[in-house]
Amino acid sequence: TRPLKVALLGCGVVGSEVARIMTTHADDLAARVGAPVELAGVAVRRPNRVREGVPAHLITTDAVELVKRDDVDVVVEVIGGIEPARGLITTAMEHGASVVSANKALLAEDGAALHAAAVEHGVDLYYEAAVAGAIPLIRPLRESLAGDKVNRVLGIVNGTTNFVLDRMDSTGAGYSDSLDEATALGYAEADPTADVEGFDAAAKAAILAGIAFHTRVTAADVHREGITEVTAADIASAKRMGCVVKLLAICERSADGKSVTARVHPAMIPLSHPLASVREAYNAVFVEADAAGQLMFYGPGAGGAPTASAVLGDLVAVCRNKLNGATGPGESAYTRLPVSPMGDVVTRY
Ligand code: HSE
Repeated sequence: TRPLKVALLGCGVVGSEVARIMTTHADDLAARVGAPVELAGVAVRRPNRVREGVPAHLITTDAVELVKRDDVDVVVEVIGGIEPARGLITTAMEHGASVVSANKALLAEDGAALHAAAVEHGVDLYYEAAVAGAIPLIRPLRESLAGDKVNRVLGIVNGTTNFVLDRMDSTGAGYSDSLDEATALGYAEADPTADVEGFDAAAKAAILAGIAFHTRVTAADVHREGITEVTAADIASAKRMGCVVKLLAICERSADGKSVTARVHPAMIPLSHPLASVREAYNAVFVEADAAGQLMFYGPGAGGAPTASAVLGDLVAVCRNKLNGATGPGESAYTRLPVSPMGDVVTRY
């Protein structure tokens, strides 16, 4: 069988792990897919940086030329941000490539248009790694739970803020000292704004709500409040009430079933709730569905290897589809339920 060719866009923390696993697990991947899966090229911004395990002849700075190549079957986008990622993904689809992306910001802003482009060009768009790293969520919601009715999704989907709040809870320290510790340990970025102000979680909430309720939600629809105003006194008083404070992404159907709400804010969770046990930088998503009841998905939500695990899973799926001449389930935004701005603000756990 002819090898399937993969263009990798980005070779940072996640991309280099994707390349490493593709090389070291090549035989297993070939067996699972039913054909060899090979790197066609790796597009980077800084070509002179040493990238162990990536053959130098595969490195290019011309991402546009790479995604247009006729022999490329799948484009894996792990550069993040809106542009140039959006343009490259669109061009890749126009040239017949399926796309695996880890790009939460882009999917939350423009998922509908990208899904439409995938349908138009008969290719796949998979993005398991965009929400909560290694934790399988997109495909369980889209496929395993496709016959059920999801009513609510409650998620701890940002590891940085969970680490900070957990430190405040376990040490009694204030917000700034705990954030400094998260930065020193490499959890928080040099500029942690997207994490602590809830933008990162809001993008993930938009993606989850859209899939869970078969509608369209963008990050701008999500009510958002970060953790910068949470004080040591807030955490202490929550503790006296038998609760922990978590930054939650809450996506639910309104009481009348005519709209959905998606919001991100610090919430008090009773210690008896499974989400209260999610410590350090771990993520977890609690799903309530009519027939399934309550489910919790738990694991590492960031980092090179965990995120690469999700990317590789998608890569196997889209390669299998390519071989079968099929596409997997795409967007199922058939309910078109509108997002109400804040909705039912009382959340019962
Ligand atoms: N900054 C994110 C987090 C990384 O802290 O969870 C994963 O999207």
